[in-house]
Amino acid sequence: MLKLEEQIQILNFPDLGDERGNLVVVEGGTAIPFDIKRIFYIYGSDSEVVRGSHANLKSEFVMINVSGTSKVLIDNGKERRVIALDKPRMGLYLKSMIWKEMYDFSPDSVLLVLSNEHYDPDEYIRSYDDYLKMVEK
Ligand code: TYD
Repeated sequence: MLKLEEQIQILNFPDLGDERGNLVVVEGGTAIPFDIKRIFYIYGSDSEVVRGSHANLKSEFVMINVSGTSKVLIDNGKERRVIALDKPRMGLYLKSMIWKEMYDFSPDSVLLVLSNEHYDPDEYIRSYDDYLKMVEK
């Protein structure tokens, strides 16, 4: 089984900003380790809300707090880590089969998520017990 550090990556996107402001460029296949098939974004979640709480059989993700901040708990069944998403230039790349929970959203948080897959509810594992059984096999 892979170590958690081999299943995730912190990405730093180039900022091509100048005196007019910041410009962060994120290209699929290069800055992002996959071709982007899906984009969604989460905002308006209160600080006490926990989102996610699932793992995915196929989907990989890159999470970017383009505004505000949030935290992501990542768990591979053996190791856990909390990553603070607190810079618009920062991306968190997650391979498939990682349990994740997003929480501690700031009022201005806009959490942008890119994925290599279209949405398919059948590839979501929403029970932590089921997830543990699958990764312990
Ligand atoms: P959910 O997986 O609970 O979102 P999160 O993990 O970010 O808290 O999704 C909420 C609803 O939106 C659920 O009915 C599934 C639907 N949904 C889509 O149709 N497509 C998508 O890409 C996503 C992420 C969710």
